[in-house]
Amino acid sequence: MSNSDHITPHVHLVNHPLVQHKLTLMRKKEASTNSFRRLLNEVSMLMAYEVTRDMAMQDVEIETPLETMSAKMIDGKKLVFVSILRAGTGILDGMLTVVPGARVGHIGLYRDPKTLQAVEYYFKMPKDMQERDVVVVDPMLATGNSAAAAVQRIKALNPKSIKFVCLLTCPEGIATMHKAHPDVPIYTAAIDRQLNEHGYILPGLGDAGDRIFGTQ
Ligand code: URA
Repeated sequence: MSNSDHITPHVHLVNHPLVQHKLTLMRKKEASTNSFRRLLNEVSMLMAYEVTRDMAMQDVEIETPLETMSAKMIDGKKLVFVSILRAGTGILDGMLTVVPGARVGHIGLYRDPKTLQAVEYYFKMPKDMQERDVVVVDPMLATGNSAAAAVQRIKALNPKSIKFVCLLTCPEGIATMHKAHPDVPIYTAAIDRQLNEHGYILPGLGDAGDRIFGTQ
């Protein structure tokens, strides 16, 4: 079994034992803010490894202490991580640790508690988006409404590609994303059972933002 199984052509389940182990620790209700944040950081580095697996590389000429050679490099500047505020920040930090040259965009969306629809309050992207590959990050793909709205806004800027990375999702979130954006692959560490009536994933891990920032 590979470390990223294709559930459907567009859902990559990152089932590496390190990712699964850390996710289990994060789900526990007794995990402290400190350890939740640290674990999310570590999982995000491992997810970055999967989502960048097919990134374009270029040959560059370098000199080792012994001779000149042609070697492979990625162009980190072509990559944009777009964090859906506020919980996306938790994934963004880990991803930037392993791709420090990436550009960063932010999109502020909150979920109307009555309608569960996404309402935008902030949008800031790097320039020249049409030259860039975008990875949108948000720990929880729950109703899918925020993710679908974020991807819609980003698509209007015509980037070269868009991928979506979350920690957890559920069948409802995947269905919403597939309906709105069948072309956008989803990378996730788990697909949980269902949403509850408040739009929370079950069994899930609770409110990711509150757990990252200790705001409960
Ligand atoms: N957002 C969260 O933080 N948790 C959920 O379970 C669903 C959405």
